[in-house]
Amino acid sequence: MPESAVAAIQKYTQLDETHCEERILAAKAALGERLLILGHHYQREEVFRHADFSGDSLKLSREAVSSSADYIVFCGVHFMAEVADILSRPDQIAMLPDINAGCSMADMANLANVERAWRELAEILAPDESITPVTYINSAADLKAFCGRHGGIVCTSTNAPHVLDWSFKRREKILFFPDQHLGRNTAYKMGIPLDEMVVWDFDQPMGGLTPEQVRKARMILWKGFCSVHQMFKPEHIDKFKAMYPDARVISHPESSFEVCQKSDYVGSTEYIIETIANSEPGTRWLVGTELNLVNRLHEQYKHLGKSVHFMSPTVSMCSTMFRIDPPHLAWTLESLVEGRVVNQIKVPRQEAEQARLSLQRMLDLAI
Ligand code: 13P
Ligand code: SF4
Repeated sequence: MPESAVAAIQKYTQLDETHCEERILAAKAALGERLLILGHHYQREEVFRHADFSGDSLKLSREAVSSSADYIVFCGVHFMAEVADILSRPDQIAMLPDINAGCSMADMANLANVERAWRELAEILAPDESITPVTYINSAADLKAFCGRHGGIVCTSTNAPHVLDWSFKRREKILFFPDQHLGRNTAYKMGIPLDEMVVWDFDQPMGGLTPEQVRKARMILWKGFCSVHQMFKPEHIDKFKAMYPDARVISHPESSFEVCQKSDYVGSTEYIIETIANSEPGTRWLVGTELNLVNRLHEQYKHLGKSVHFMSPTVSMCSTMFRIDPPHLAWTLESLVEGRVVNQIKVPRQEAEQARLSLQRMLDLAI
């Protein structure tokens, strides 16, 4: 980040909470319809309340397509702002209030090691005929572009089953990156046995697999994971169920296979919200997803006697989502009011065109 930006944000961090909030509201009012603030469900409350629209990754990317605002300020992480830039009109500007708000899972796959995997797979079979590359939306734009070039597609936690179905109708195997858990949990639910799935260790030649293992596999799962969702363990569910046998368990599919198998419901953040919202008053829930969302659900539904609990005994927040704070948001918005664009996320044109192909294949599934 340029030194001037660091110094500017420092001034905002010295503001007290109320003053910072007032300045965000004033800047929003000044920008009016020219501004759209998108907020992912994992955002902290003090930021989330300023979002004009909130959702999971799929819902937010659809909103980026349909928005007519000049500025899309994304309160989320880097790959989300990239998707907003790719899917919005060329004259619209996508911004991320803190440029360092990345996603540690997305960083577990990069173009160099995915291209290497593709070359190594080509030593055994013809990947462009037999493997569909599927990238989770939690990935850099150049990996979405890779999928665009190679007949592949993007998925989110909401549409992963439909995307896998689309992919298997075209080619016999899938290379799924970067999250092994979403790939495994989704494929297993669709009837693919675990012995037809292998994990590609990107630190090893040929992913650490034998040619025979690769030939037999239908799902080749990248060895990536989310550090937040890996905190949830099957024993947390067992312990809770022993105390509250009637409790219902709901988890995000980035959680491990064992956790998802023990859960009553598995789905995206939007699905988790809807399921708890539609449950009867008095129900008790154990939730395996990020803490800010779980706390919000707890606050929202306690008046109905619904009891919403976080799955892990230790606090585990998405530290990168948490980087977006009121000072960064105030700085971003006030800069716009003064006619300065800060922290714009701009994907290079050719990369954006190829990434749009794989994103559009996903959006065309109408899920
Ligand atoms: P959702 O698309 O379900 O909101 O998930 C995004 C994410 O990063 C979960 O960790
Ligand atoms: Fe990435 Fe995990 Fe944070 Fe989601 S919760 S943004 S997958 S690090």
